[in-house]
Amino acid sequence: MKAKFRLPKEEQDFFFQTIKEIIYTQDFLRLKQFRHHGNISTYTHVIKVAYLSFCHAIKKHKRINKKELIRSALLHDLYFYDWHDKHNGVHLHGLFHPKKAVQNAKRLYSITKREQRHMAHHMFPLTLIPPTTREGWIICIFDKLAARSDYKAIKLKKKALKKASLK
Ligand SMILES: [Fe+2]
Ligand SMILES: [Fe+2]
Repeated sequence: MKAKFRLPKEEQDFFFQTIKEIIYTQDFLRLKQFRHHGNISTYTHVIKVAYLSFCHAIKKHKRINKKELIRSALLHDLYFYDWHDKHNGVHLHGLFHPKKAVQNAKRLYSITKREQRHMAHHMFPLTLIPPTTREGWIICIFDKLAARSDYKAIKLKKKALKKASLK
């Protein structure tokens, strides 16, 4: 693991204490069923975004609400369908899922107004309104970096499998 993604013990503990309140709940566990990028589930994706966002915040921004950042990153894609499935009845997924995630998070995890704001604009610049909070910007950026690293891993895996099948 790269040094920038290694945390001191007390920060690691804080991260796991915070995610523990959400990731073992029944509703959140449902995210394991849905493919997000390739064979990476939404469950894995959002934990990755939460961890990367938190590492960045610890190293670069002292003045953020760490708990809100982790919770909002975990909940930013809280929708219960496979977005690849053309028959899921959802149109323009990219544009509308942040709103759906906020609604679900309000209903299932009673999130704060600020947490709603952190989540609401994570698809910028696809959606026109940019994030309105520092935490929101961090989630928006690390969501994209996490997606890029997921696709890179998928590509590498495919390449390795192809190579292995040629031997
Ligand atoms: Fe998203
Ligand atoms: Fe995401």
